[in-house]
Amino acid sequence: MCGIVGYYGNNEKKEILIDGLRELEYRGYDSAGIALINDNLLNHFKAIGKLDNLAYRMRDFNSSGFGVAIGHTRWATHGKPTELNAHPHLGDYSFVVHNGIIENYKELKETLKSDGVEFLSQTDTETIVHLFENINNQIDNPFEAFTQTINRLEGAYATLIISEAMADTIFFAKYGSPMLIGFNDGEIFFASSDTPIIGKANEVYYLEDGEYGYIVDGEIKLFDKNGAKEFKRERLTPDKILAQKDGYRFFMEKEIYEQSSIMSDTIMGRVNDNGVDFDEIDDSILDGIDEIKICACGTSYHSALTGAYLLERSAKIRTSVEIASEFRYKDPLLSNKTLFITISQSGETADTLEALKMAKKAGLKSLSICNVDNSSIVRESDITILTRAGIEKGVASTKAFATQVMVLWLFSLYLAKKRDKISPEQLSNEIKAILHSPTSLKVDDNLHSKIHRLSKRYLHGHGFFFIGRDIFYPLALEGALKLKEISYLHAEGYPAGEMKHGPIALADSELFTIALMPQTLWYDKIKSNVEELSARDSTILAISPLDFELADDFIKTKEYDHPMLEFFEMMVVTQILALEISIRLGNDVDMPRNLAKSVTVE
Ligand code: AGP
Repeated sequence: MCGIVGYYGNNEKKEILIDGLRELEYRGYDSAGIALINDNLLNHFKAIGKLDNLAYRMRDFNSSGFGVAIGHTRWATHGKPTELNAHPHLGDYSFVVHNGIIENYKELKETLKSDGVEFLSQTDTETIVHLFENINNQIDNPFEAFTQTINRLEGAYATLIISEAMADTIFFAKYGSPMLIGFNDGEIFFASSDTPIIGKANEVYYLEDGEYGYIVDGEIKLFDKNGAKEFKRERLTPDKILAQKDGYRFFMEKEIYEQSSIMSDTIMGRVNDNGVDFDEIDDSILDGIDEIKICACGTSYHSALTGAYLLERSAKIRTSVEIASEFRYKDPLLSNKTLFITISQSGETADTLEALKMAKKAGLKSLSICNVDNSSIVRESDITILTRAGIEKGVASTKAFATQVMVLWLFSLYLAKKRDKISPEQLSNEIKAILHSPTSLKVDDNLHSKIHRLSKRYLHGHGFFFIGRDIFYPLALEGALKLKEISYLHAEGYPAGEMKHGPIALADSELFTIALMPQTLWYDKIKSNVEELSARDSTILAISPLDFELADDFIKTKEYDHPMLEFFEMMVVTQILALEISIRLGNDVDMPRNLAKSVTVE
């Protein structure tokens, strides 16, 4: 989730790059850096933390006349957020910035090291610049060296290189991570999205995967695996807000669509052939622990409930979940054999933070699962696992929830292995499913249109019941919360088996039941619960891979063989359902009434 910018032209490069990076800061703010060649002089600046630190460091620097420049704002993945790990990375005479993951960087690094190349950082990115120079040193042809470098990279990248070997160009390549080129009267811009160049460029070309090239005399030379290629520029919208949403109607919609790619970031570096590993965890934190307590609010509480099923089932460790605002005032009995986990997207939720302080005071070890590094909860916790969801702008949480659940799934397997509770075959099946989860989160256009069409039937009535069993029960709670938050319609999440103990009294045709019916967990059980509701004339919207003839509306999901894959796909369906209903009702999807993104009061 890093952001990159590049500039070729005569204007002040510092301003252009800092302004551009500011627009991308939401993609990561662990560190930022800029490298430039001006008057044939190579220069660079880096600073950890927010972009303001870099701007301050560059306060006395000015560049005038022709030059090339590249910049980067980082969301740490490989290696800690230090200045050495900040981009741009330096070779002997070139700099690189990169967004993505070079999957074969370890092999490349070993080969380069055996050629005597020294590495300064822990990043995968540094291999790109050394590989480029290593080849160029042999063939003395920077463009050919860049082509050969790109051909050796596996994984995802949007990357820019500037080099004293060809000081009047920027080398660029894209595969799997976004990048575009902007144009304006002799100036050329590169960026991860169009917001940094709006108002500066008037035309744009969105690079396709596999395209790469460089600038020759102010013109872009573009190539792909078949050789040189023509491209067509488009007019660039002058509307910044529209551009920030990448063409989606709302940030929430964009964030729903992002879940698939973001999940790869959450998983990255944490799974391997042997199972799950967390650089952040020092095993001593688990010494003497025989129980887990998770504390959170709202959506994060729902991910906690999901995690409790996973932890007890895989790691066989007793796990309880508490709503933070309740926990604080109940005089809880706490034991120092309990690992206290807090979950929070913002890391600033007052109730969760206070619960954490209480647990620490009682001598418990603490772990937080959080999306915002350096937030209050992160600073207060003994250790933190970051969810790496990137900034979430929609008040109704979507991608933060998905990544919290993923971290809990990973953590449950990590513990299961440490506690010797999982066989190698089971673990390898779980890893397979984890690696497949980005696919299960992809939004299918046909599915979205279907939900859009059927949403018109769900704008009235006297309420919604989202029902599910097992991990699909917390998902039902979360589905109901999403709908409540942005549609203002009354919705409840219920364990499907509990309906007959009271709530079924509400059933009639104006009561909408959203039934989560996975094929991999208790299908027959939930089917009977839904049949009971249908017999009482409740309107049923069934979400399942298996046809269900009593459904009034039916959303067919894919036939996955792992419950978590069904979980993620059904989660996307419930998010889009809430979104479409809210849009039809004319509500402000991103900033629903009465809510705030970060709840720092009790
Ligand atoms: C979710 O859509 C809500 N915005 C809300 O329930 C949120 O999850 C809750 O306030 C907790 O916030 P946190 O994750 O930042 O601690």
